Amino acid sequence: MCGIIGIASNKPVSINIINSLKKLEYRGYDSAGLATLDNDIINEKKCSGRVEELEKILFKTPSNGNVGIGHVRWATHGIPNVVNAHPHSSEQVSVVHNGIIENSDELKNELESKGIKFKSQTDTEVVTLLITESLKENKPLNSVFKTLKKLKGSFALGIIFKKFPNIIIGARRGSPLAVGYSKKENYIGSDSYALKSMTNKISYLDDGELCVLTKDEVSFFDKNLKKVNKKILTMSENDVSAEKGEYKHFMFKEIVEQPDTVNNCISEYVDSLKKNINILNFPIEPQKINKIVLIGCGTAYNSCLTAKYWFEELTSIDIEIDIASEFRYRKLKFNPNNLYIFVSQSGETADTAAALDLCKKNNVKTCSIVNVIESTIARNSDWVLPIHAGIEIGVASTKAFLGQLTVLYILCLKLAFVRKDIDEITYIKNISNLKKIPDAIKKCLKNENEVQLMAKEFISAKGSMFLGRGSSFPIALEGALKLKELSYLHAEGYPAGEMKHGPLALIEEGLPVIVIAPKDKYFEKTISNMQEVIARGGKILFITDNKKESLNENIRFGFRVPHIDNLLSPILLTLPLQMLAYHVALLKNCDVDKPRNLAKSVTVE
Ligand code: F6R
Repeated sequence: MCGIIGIASNKPVSINIINSLKKLEYRGYDSAGLATLDNDIINEKKCSGRVEELEKILFKTPSNGNVGIGHVRWATHGIPNVVNAHPHSSEQVSVVHNGIIENSDELKNELESKGIKFKSQTDTEVVTLLITESLKENKPLNSVFKTLKKLKGSFALGIIFKKFPNIIIGARRGSPLAVGYSKKENYIGSDSYALKSMTNKISYLDDGELCVLTKDEVSFFDKNLKKVNKKILTMSENDVSAEKGEYKHFMFKEIVEQPDTVNNCISEYVDSLKKNINILNFPIEPQKINKIVLIGCGTAYNSCLTAKYWFEELTSIDIEIDIASEFRYRKLKFNPNNLYIFVSQSGETADTAAALDLCKKNNVKTCSIVNVIESTIARNSDWVLPIHAGIEIGVASTKAFLGQLTVLYILCLKLAFVRKDIDEITYIKNISNLKKIPDAIKKCLKNENEVQLMAKEFISAKGSMFLGRGSSFPIALEGALKLKELSYLHAEGYPAGEMKHGPLALIEEGLPVIVIAPKDKYFEKTISNMQEVIARGGKILFITDNKKESLNENIRFGFRVPHIDNLLSPILLTLPLQMLAYHVALLKNCDVDKPRNLAKSVTVE
């Protein structure tokens, strides 16, 4: 949710800290700061707003120092302003923090009762002040260790010390922390992407671990402070490459990359020669799976909801879908023959990770469908199916959604076939239909100008509705989610058949209503629901794969996606909705890659 970086070097580090913070901005962007150890003092610089503001401050008053930490914030405790921006420093230490200290109020009261004063409203400052207190009697590593024992919550920390100017201590509980290695320089960072321009040699802290780095070496310790060894991974160019290139926004670049996303999944999972899907080693023998439970948040939840229709159509497996933040608190009846599947782009979403932990505690089999394979969720699940979408930077998820859908579809086909729910002809036909999707996506993207015209209808709209039935219903939800997060316009996704039970009251003259109506078994029903909206003055924007349906005077705009087959229509129907949200946001001058109040990886509850 926030991004942290730390560099120990033999040369000044502030410029590299700024460069890394720019890469971490997708994790939070309401304030930024850094602290370096500069001639035996902690030199702290902070600002509200973006990293470029911090860069301006540094330009006017440069920070020296060969050891330093930096932070981009997504506010949890305290409004986004300079005082609450990280790092939080005392005379002796400076701390950057990602995550939440759940017992901060209690700890603050204890410290205040000893006469210790706080400057900010953050939960982080308790960490600074607890370590400062502990340093009166302990060395840095022990001070951090003893402080960690008092903290509840999920967090990653980076800490520097005035009296020990060569070291940085990193600690991880719940939130991710990577370590990078270079010549005469070592790093900590919230992810490997932040370290990308400096190194491709990476290790990851496991939960509960600490690390101490100097410019020459890195030592790791487990949660009992016992030294541990770490594997050093070499990242390939693909793992770390994410530049905007010719595109104005990451989001649009990621929309355009979607044919590759689907192709990557196909080449990873489909054996073209044998016309078979290479998914093996199921954690439960496929015949014995009683039920599949799909769990995710936001866009990932929408992909689960879409997959429900595929599993119901093709398999005999019972299927249940849940939002992770609900699942984790429900009173569930766990069954060892159920397979629990967690879907997450980042693999770090706190609610999804907690839902997974709950399953593990109840000894049931878990699978994760993730983009980041070294993530917490991937590492904690019994079985991982990566989506191979490459790093996604735009806060609004696009290519990860299509990657999730593709992997879920492939998994569904494989299970349906090995359980003999579908015959070989259907299996092979469905695989070959999937292979047509990348070219069909390219065709949709070519018609971007049609979506640009549609987008104009939203400039002065007070709200909007997205309607669909069957597997188009979750796509309506996804279209509405994209529009509201990017353009701050109220948007409701609804099952078209449900309108008459209440939401029809929202329809008034000129309200944009996006009707998603592929030529499937619901088509005529959806058209009837659309007529009810037209009769009440709604302005229809019609999205279909039906070649025959001609647009009439009641339909303001239409967008036709190629028809491959009904099962796969949700993938293609998503394309115009992603482009629509993008173009409405542009017309409304919204920050497409960094929408207000949001951040990419939601590592808080
Ligand atoms: C919306 C969006 C969010 C995420 C959600 C889950 O565009 O990006 O709704 O889908 O926060 O994130 P992951 O997939 O990383 O678990």
